[in-house]
Amino acid sequence: MRRPERQIDMAEQLIDRFGRVHTNLRISVTDRCNIRCFYCMPAENVQFMDRKDLLTFEEMERFVRIAVPLGLTKIRLTGGEPLVRHDLHILVRKLAAIPEIHDIGLTTNGILLADQAEDLYDAGLRRINVSLDALDPVKFKEITRRDGYEKVLEGIQAAQRVGFDPVKVNAVSVRGMTEDEIVRFGHFARETGVEIRFIEFMPLDADNAWEREKVLFAHEILEKLAAEIMPLVPCPNQNPHAPATEFQFADGVGKIGIIASISQPFCMSCDRFRITADGKLRNCLFSLEETDVKGMLRGGATEAEIAQAIRESIASKKEGHEINTARFIQPDRPMYSIGG
Ligand code: 5AD
Ligand code: SF4
Repeated sequence: MRRPERQIDMAEQLIDRFGRVHTNLRISVTDRCNIRCFYCMPAENVQFMDRKDLLTFEEMERFVRIAVPLGLTKIRLTGGEPLVRHDLHILVRKLAAIPEIHDIGLTTNGILLADQAEDLYDAGLRRINVSLDALDPVKFKEITRRDGYEKVLEGIQAAQRVGFDPVKVNAVSVRGMTEDEIVRFGHFARETGVEIRFIEFMPLDADNAWEREKVLFAHEILEKLAAEIMPLVPCPNQNPHAPATEFQFADGVGKIGIIASISQPFCMSCDRFRITADGKLRNCLFSLEETDVKGMLRGGATEAEIAQAIRESIASKKEGHEINTARFIQPDRPMYSIGG
Protein backbone atom coordinates (compact mmCIF):
# COMPACT_ATOMS: atom_id res chain seq x y z
CA MET A 1 0.00 0.00 0.00
CA ARG A 2 1.27 3.49 -0.77
CA ARG A 3 2.46 5.54 2.18
CA PRO A 4 1.04 9.02 2.51
CA GLU A 5 3.56 11.78 1.88
CA ARG A 6 2.97 13.25 5.31
CA GLN A 7 1.89 11.84 8.62
CA ILE A 8 -1.86 11.44 8.66
CA ASP A 9 -3.60 9.60 11.43
CA MET A 10 -4.51 6.21 9.94
CA ALA A 11 -8.06 6.64 11.18
CA GLU A 12 -8.35 9.82 9.14
CA GLN A 13 -7.14 8.45 5.81
CA LEU A 14 -9.57 7.71 3.03
CA ILE A 15 -9.02 3.96 2.80
CA ASP A 16 -11.70 1.82 1.23
CA ARG A 17 -12.62 -1.83 1.78
CA PHE A 18 -9.98 -2.91 -0.70
CA GLY A 19 -7.13 -1.04 0.96
CA ARG A 20 -6.99 1.72 -1.64
CA VAL A 21 -5.83 5.06 -0.24
CA HIS A 22 -7.56 8.07 -1.82
CA THR A 23 -5.29 11.07 -2.23
CA ASN A 24 -6.40 12.37 -5.61
CA LEU A 25 -9.45 14.55 -6.24
CA ARG A 26 -10.88 15.50 -9.63
CA ILE A 27 -12.95 18.64 -9.52
CA SER A 28 -15.34 19.31 -12.40
CA VAL A 29 -15.76 23.08 -12.55
CA THR A 30 -18.54 23.18 -15.17
CA ASP A 31 -20.51 20.83 -17.39
CA ARG A 32 -20.53 23.39 -20.22
CA CYS A 33 -18.37 22.84 -23.26
CA ASN A 34 -17.59 24.65 -26.50
CA ILE A 35 -17.41 21.44 -28.60
CA ARG A 36 -19.55 18.26 -28.70
CA CYS A 37 -17.35 15.13 -28.76
CA PHE A 38 -19.61 12.23 -29.59
CA TYR A 39 -18.17 9.98 -26.85
CA CYS A 40 -19.12 12.45 -24.15
CA MET A 41 -22.02 14.70 -25.20
CA PRO A 42 -25.14 14.68 -27.33
CA ALA A 43 -24.84 16.61 -30.62
CA GLU A 44 -27.50 19.23 -29.87
CA ASN A 45 -29.89 20.43 -27.16
CA VAL A 46 -27.65 19.71 -24.22
CA GLN A 47 -29.34 20.34 -20.90
CA PHE A 48 -26.72 22.20 -18.92
CA MET A 49 -26.83 22.68 -15.18
CA ASP A 50 -28.38 25.82 -13.82
CA ARG A 51 -25.60 28.29 -13.04
CA LYS A 52 -26.77 28.66 -9.45
CA ASP A 53 -26.19 24.93 -9.01
CA LEU A 54 -22.50 25.15 -9.90
CA LEU A 55 -20.17 25.22 -6.94
CA THR A 56 -18.45 28.55 -6.48
CA PHE A 57 -14.66 28.62 -6.28
CA GLU A 58 -15.03 29.41 -2.57
CA GLU A 59 -17.14 26.29 -2.08
CA MET A 60 -14.62 24.17 -3.97
CA GLU A 61 -11.81 25.56 -1.87
CA ARG A 62 -13.74 24.81 1.33
CA PHE A 63 -14.33 21.25 0.23
CA VAL A 64 -10.64 20.80 -0.60
CA ARG A 65 -9.58 22.23 2.75
CA ILE A 66 -11.85 19.70 4.47
CA ALA A 67 -10.40 16.83 2.43
CA VAL A 68 -6.74 17.81 2.98
CA PRO A 69 -6.60 16.50 6.58
CA LEU A 70 -7.98 13.22 5.18
CA GLY A 71 -4.91 12.84 2.98
CA LEU A 72 -5.75 14.75 -0.19
CA THR A 73 -2.58 15.88 -1.98
CA LYS A 74 -3.40 15.93 -5.70
CA ILE A 75 -6.07 17.76 -7.66
CA ARG A 76 -7.09 17.78 -11.30
CA LEU A 77 -9.53 20.33 -12.69
CA THR A 78 -11.88 19.02 -15.35
CA GLY A 79 -15.27 19.71 -16.92
CA GLY A 80 -17.16 19.96 -19.30
CA GLU A 81 -14.54 22.35 -20.57
CA PRO A 82 -12.97 23.99 -17.51
CA LEU A 83 -11.67 27.03 -19.40
CA VAL A 84 -15.18 28.26 -20.21
CA ARG A 85 -14.92 29.51 -16.63
CA HIS A 86 -12.58 32.24 -17.84
CA ASP A 87 -11.38 33.14 -14.37
CA LEU A 88 -10.21 29.60 -13.60
CA HIS A 89 -6.78 30.93 -12.68
CA ILE A 90 -8.38 32.41 -9.57
CA LEU A 91 -9.35 28.92 -8.40
CA VAL A 92 -5.89 27.60 -9.26
CA ARG A 93 -4.30 30.31 -7.14
CA LYS A 94 -6.54 29.46 -4.16
CA LEU A 95 -5.70 25.76 -4.41
CA ALA A 96 -2.00 26.29 -5.03
CA ALA A 97 -1.84 28.25 -1.76
CA ILE A 98 -2.71 25.12 0.23
CA PRO A 99 0.69 23.68 1.24
CA GLU A 100 -0.41 20.03 1.29
CA ILE A 101 -1.62 20.21 -2.32
CA HIS A 102 1.59 19.57 -4.18
CA ASP A 103 0.15 18.74 -7.58
CA ILE A 104 -2.54 20.56 -9.56
CA GLY A 105 -3.41 19.50 -13.10
CA LEU A 106 -5.91 20.56 -15.73
CA THR A 107 -7.66 18.58 -18.46
CA THR A 108 -8.89 20.88 -21.24
CA ASN A 109 -9.94 20.63 -24.86
CA GLY A 110 -7.40 23.35 -25.57
CA ILE A 111 -9.63 25.72 -27.55
CA LEU A 112 -9.31 28.56 -25.04
CA LEU A 113 -5.89 27.56 -23.79
CA ALA A 114 -3.74 29.98 -25.80
CA ASP A 115 -5.66 32.87 -24.18
CA GLN A 116 -5.35 31.57 -20.64
CA ALA A 117 -2.09 29.59 -20.50
CA GLU A 118 -0.03 32.40 -19.02
CA ASP A 119 -2.53 33.32 -16.30
CA LEU A 120 -2.86 29.66 -15.33
CA TYR A 121 0.89 29.19 -15.14
CA ASP A 122 1.32 32.34 -13.07
CA ALA A 123 -1.35 31.07 -10.69
CA GLY A 124 0.64 27.91 -10.02
CA LEU A 125 -0.68 25.33 -12.48
CA ARG A 126 2.08 23.13 -13.95
CA ARG A 127 0.50 20.11 -15.58
CA ILE A 128 -1.82 20.21 -18.57
CA ASN A 129 -3.56 17.47 -20.53
CA VAL A 130 -5.17 18.54 -23.78
CA SER A 131 -7.90 16.32 -25.20
CA LEU A 132 -7.31 15.93 -28.94
CA ASP A 133 -8.39 12.78 -30.70
CA ALA A 134 -7.31 13.50 -34.27
CA LEU A 135 -4.52 15.37 -36.06
CA ASP A 136 -6.55 15.28 -39.26
CA PRO A 137 -8.80 18.39 -39.16
CA VAL A 138 -11.65 16.64 -40.99
CA LYS A 139 -11.59 13.80 -38.47
CA PHE A 140 -11.42 16.35 -35.65
CA LYS A 141 -14.67 17.89 -36.84
CA GLU A 142 -16.30 14.50 -37.29
CA ILE A 143 -15.52 13.62 -33.67
CA THR A 144 -16.16 16.99 -32.03
CA ARG A 145 -18.96 18.14 -34.31
CA ARG A 146 -17.50 21.64 -34.10
CA ASP A 147 -14.64 23.75 -35.51
CA GLY A 148 -11.61 24.56 -33.42
CA TYR A 149 -8.78 22.31 -34.56
CA GLU A 150 -6.31 25.17 -35.17
CA LYS A 151 -7.14 26.71 -31.79
CA VAL A 152 -6.30 23.45 -30.04
CA LEU A 153 -2.91 23.24 -31.75
CA GLU A 154 -2.26 26.88 -30.84
CA GLY A 155 -3.23 26.04 -27.26
CA ILE A 156 -0.76 23.16 -27.09
CA GLN A 157 2.03 25.36 -28.47
CA ALA A 158 1.20 28.17 -26.06
CA ALA A 159 1.25 25.77 -23.10
CA GLN A 160 4.70 24.52 -24.06
CA ARG A 161 5.96 28.06 -24.65
CA VAL A 162 4.73 29.31 -21.27
CA GLY A 163 6.58 26.46 -19.55
CA PHE A 164 4.00 23.82 -18.70
CA ASP A 165 5.70 20.51 -18.10
CA PRO A 166 4.44 18.02 -18.89
CA VAL A 167 2.01 18.87 -21.68
CA LYS A 168 0.15 15.71 -22.61
CA VAL A 169 -2.47 14.95 -25.22
CA ASN A 170 -5.37 12.59 -24.45
CA ALA A 171 -6.64 10.83 -27.55
CA VAL A 172 -9.71 8.62 -27.25
CA SER A 173 -9.34 5.59 -29.51
CA VAL A 174 -12.41 4.39 -31.37
CA ARG A 175 -12.48 1.45 -33.76
CA GLY A 176 -13.53 2.39 -37.28
CA MET A 177 -12.66 6.01 -36.61
CA THR A 178 -9.22 6.78 -35.22
CA GLU A 179 -6.95 4.01 -36.59
CA ASP A 180 -5.25 6.42 -38.99
CA GLU A 181 -4.49 8.84 -36.17
CA ILE A 182 -2.25 6.43 -34.28
CA VAL A 183 0.86 6.78 -36.42
CA ARG A 184 0.25 10.50 -36.95
CA PHE A 185 0.24 10.92 -33.18
CA GLY A 186 3.34 8.76 -32.85
CA HIS A 187 5.25 11.17 -35.10
CA PHE A 188 3.70 14.16 -33.33
CA ALA A 189 5.00 12.86 -29.98
CA ARG A 190 8.48 12.49 -31.45
CA GLU A 191 8.49 15.92 -33.06
CA THR A 192 6.97 18.03 -30.29
CA GLY A 193 7.90 16.32 -27.00
CA VAL A 194 4.22 16.13 -26.09
CA GLU A 195 3.29 12.79 -24.53
CA ILE A 196 0.38 11.20 -26.39
CA ARG A 197 -1.95 9.12 -24.22
CA PHE A 198 -4.31 6.84 -26.06
CA ILE A 199 -7.49 6.12 -24.08
CA GLU A 200 -9.77 3.18 -24.80
CA PHE A 201 -13.31 4.39 -25.52
CA MET A 202 -15.45 3.91 -22.38
CA PRO A 203 -19.24 3.66 -21.99
CA LEU A 204 -19.80 7.24 -20.80
CA ASP A 205 -21.31 8.72 -23.96
CA ALA A 206 -24.62 10.55 -23.94
CA ASP A 207 -26.10 8.65 -26.85
CA ASN A 208 -25.60 5.19 -25.30
CA ALA A 209 -23.88 4.14 -28.50
CA TRP A 210 -20.86 2.54 -26.85
CA GLU A 211 -20.24 -1.09 -27.76
CA ARG A 212 -17.28 -3.28 -27.05
CA GLU A 213 -16.71 -3.62 -30.80
CA LYS A 214 -15.97 0.13 -30.95
CA VAL A 215 -13.07 -0.07 -28.53
CA LEU A 216 -9.71 0.14 -30.23
CA PHE A 217 -7.57 -1.85 -27.83
CA ALA A 218 -4.29 -0.81 -26.29
CA HIS A 219 -2.34 -3.73 -27.67
CA GLU A 220 -3.48 -2.91 -31.22
CA ILE A 221 -2.26 0.67 -30.81
CA LEU A 222 1.14 -0.45 -29.54
CA GLU A 223 1.47 -3.00 -32.34
CA LYS A 224 0.70 -0.41 -34.98
CA LEU A 225 3.22 2.08 -33.57
CA ALA A 226 5.86 -0.64 -33.37
CA ALA A 227 5.22 -1.83 -36.92
CA GLU A 228 5.07 1.58 -38.54
CA ILE A 229 7.49 3.67 -36.47
CA MET A 230 9.57 1.50 -34.14
CA PRO A 231 9.12 -0.68 -31.05
CA LEU A 232 8.30 0.90 -27.72
CA VAL A 233 9.80 0.09 -24.36
CA PRO A 234 8.14 0.67 -20.96
CA CYS A 235 9.41 3.76 -19.12
CA PRO A 236 11.19 3.18 -15.80
CA ASN A 237 9.77 4.44 -12.46
CA GLN A 238 6.10 4.57 -13.35
CA ASN A 239 3.57 5.89 -10.87
CA PRO A 240 1.63 2.76 -9.86
CA HIS A 241 -1.54 4.82 -9.31
CA ALA A 242 -1.55 6.52 -12.71
CA PRO A 243 -4.07 5.10 -15.16
CA ALA A 244 -1.59 5.38 -18.02
CA THR A 245 1.20 2.89 -18.66
CA GLU A 246 4.02 4.88 -20.20
CA PHE A 247 6.27 3.82 -23.06
CA GLN A 248 9.11 5.37 -24.99
CA PHE A 249 10.17 4.70 -28.55
CA ALA A 250 13.24 2.48 -28.55
CA ASP A 251 15.53 5.33 -29.63
CA GLY A 252 14.42 7.40 -26.63
CA VAL A 253 12.54 9.99 -28.68
CA GLY A 254 8.81 10.35 -28.01
CA LYS A 255 6.63 9.20 -25.13
CA ILE A 256 3.37 7.27 -25.46
CA GLY A 257 0.88 6.56 -22.66
CA ILE A 258 -1.76 3.88 -22.86
CA ILE A 259 -4.94 4.04 -20.78
CA ALA A 260 -6.38 0.57 -21.16
CA SER A 261 -9.53 1.18 -19.11
CA ILE A 262 -11.40 -1.67 -20.82
CA SER A 263 -8.80 -4.28 -21.77
CA GLN A 264 -6.71 -3.91 -18.60
CA PRO A 265 -8.72 -2.14 -15.91
CA PHE A 266 -6.59 -0.44 -13.27
CA CYS A 267 -9.28 -0.09 -10.62
CA MET A 268 -7.29 -1.97 -7.97
CA SER A 269 -4.73 0.83 -7.86
CA CYS A 270 -7.26 3.67 -8.07
CA ASP A 271 -6.59 6.60 -5.73
CA ARG A 272 -9.24 8.94 -7.17
CA PHE A 273 -12.50 10.48 -6.08
CA ARG A 274 -14.51 13.18 -7.80
CA ILE A 275 -16.76 16.12 -7.23
CA THR A 276 -19.13 17.15 -10.00
CA ALA A 277 -19.73 20.76 -11.01
CA ASP A 278 -23.03 20.67 -9.12
CA GLY A 279 -21.33 19.49 -5.98
CA LYS A 280 -22.00 15.76 -5.94
CA LEU A 281 -19.28 13.56 -4.55
CA ARG A 282 -18.61 10.37 -6.58
CA ASN A 283 -16.22 7.63 -5.53
CA CYS A 284 -15.84 6.31 -9.10
CA LEU A 285 -16.45 7.47 -12.68
CA PHE A 286 -18.98 4.68 -12.95
CA SER A 287 -20.65 4.90 -9.55
CA LEU A 288 -24.43 4.86 -9.54
CA GLU A 289 -24.65 6.71 -6.24
CA GLU A 290 -23.43 10.12 -5.18
CA THR A 291 -23.31 12.29 -2.07
CA ASP A 292 -24.84 15.76 -2.12
CA VAL A 293 -21.94 17.85 -0.88
CA LYS A 294 -23.38 21.07 -2.28
CA GLY A 295 -26.45 20.59 -0.10
CA MET A 296 -24.18 20.19 2.92
CA LEU A 297 -21.96 23.16 2.01
CA ARG A 298 -24.98 25.41 1.53
CA GLY A 299 -27.02 23.92 4.36
CA GLY A 300 -24.67 24.83 7.17
CA ALA A 301 -23.03 21.42 7.67
CA THR A 302 -19.93 21.44 9.86
CA GLU A 303 -16.47 20.49 8.68
CA ALA A 304 -16.71 17.27 10.70
CA GLU A 305 -20.00 16.35 9.05
CA ILE A 306 -18.63 16.91 5.56
CA ALA A 307 -15.45 14.96 6.40
CA GLN A 308 -17.62 12.11 7.62
CA ALA A 309 -19.65 12.16 4.38
CA ILE A 310 -16.41 11.90 2.37
CA ARG A 311 -15.27 8.94 4.50
CA GLU A 312 -18.60 7.19 4.03
CA SER A 313 -18.52 7.69 0.28
CA ILE A 314 -15.04 6.16 0.03
CA ALA A 315 -16.02 3.32 2.36
CA SER A 316 -18.79 2.33 -0.03
CA LYS A 317 -16.60 2.35 -3.18
CA LYS A 318 -17.01 -0.72 -5.36
CA GLU A 319 -14.13 -2.92 -6.35
CA GLY A 320 -14.14 -1.77 -9.96
CA HIS A 321 -16.13 -0.66 -12.95
CA GLU A 322 -17.58 -4.03 -14.06
CA ILE A 323 -17.68 -2.96 -17.73
CA ASN A 324 -16.48 -6.42 -18.69
CA THR A 325 -19.39 -8.14 -16.87
CA ALA A 326 -23.07 -8.58 -17.56
CA ARG A 327 -23.78 -6.62 -14.35
CA PHE A 328 -22.51 -3.36 -15.82
CA ILE A 329 -24.93 -0.44 -15.76
CA GLN A 330 -23.90 2.77 -17.52
CA PRO A 331 -24.27 5.79 -15.19
CA ASP A 332 -27.15 8.22 -15.92
CA ARG A 333 -24.68 11.05 -16.23
CA PRO A 334 -22.52 11.12 -19.36
CA MET A 335 -18.87 12.17 -19.11
CA TYR A 336 -19.44 15.93 -19.48
CA SER A 337 -21.70 15.94 -16.48
CA ILE A 338 -19.51 13.75 -14.27
CA GLY A 339 -16.20 15.35 -15.15
CA GLY A 340 -13.43 13.64 -17.09
N1 5AD B 1 -14.20 7.24 -23.21
C1 5AD B 1 -12.88 7.48 -23.02
N2 5AD B 1 -12.38 8.68 -22.70
C2 5AD B 1 -13.25 9.68 -22.60
N3 5AD B 1 -13.06 10.98 -22.33
C3 5AD B 1 -14.26 11.58 -22.33
N4 5AD B 1 -15.25 10.72 -22.60
C4 5AD B 1 -14.63 9.51 -22.78
C5 5AD B 1 -15.09 8.22 -23.10
N5 5AD B 1 -16.39 7.96 -23.29
C6 5AD B 1 -11.73 11.55 -22.14
C7 5AD B 1 -11.63 12.97 -22.60
C8 5AD B 1 -10.58 13.55 -21.68
C9 5AD B 1 -10.45 12.56 -20.57
C10 5AD B 1 -10.60 13.14 -19.23
O1 5AD B 1 -11.43 11.58 -20.78
O2 5AD B 1 -11.23 13.06 -23.93
O3 5AD B 1 -9.37 13.70 -22.32
FE1 SF4 C 1 -11.21 4.29 -10.24
FE2 SF4 C 1 -13.71 3.84 -10.91
FE3 SF4 C 1 -11.93 4.56 -12.77
FE4 SF4 C 1 -11.86 2.11 -11.70
S1 SF4 C 1 -13.46 2.98 -12.97
S2 SF4 C 1 -10.13 3.48 -12.02
S3 SF4 C 1 -12.47 2.57 -9.57
S4 SF4 C 1 -12.62 5.80 -11.05
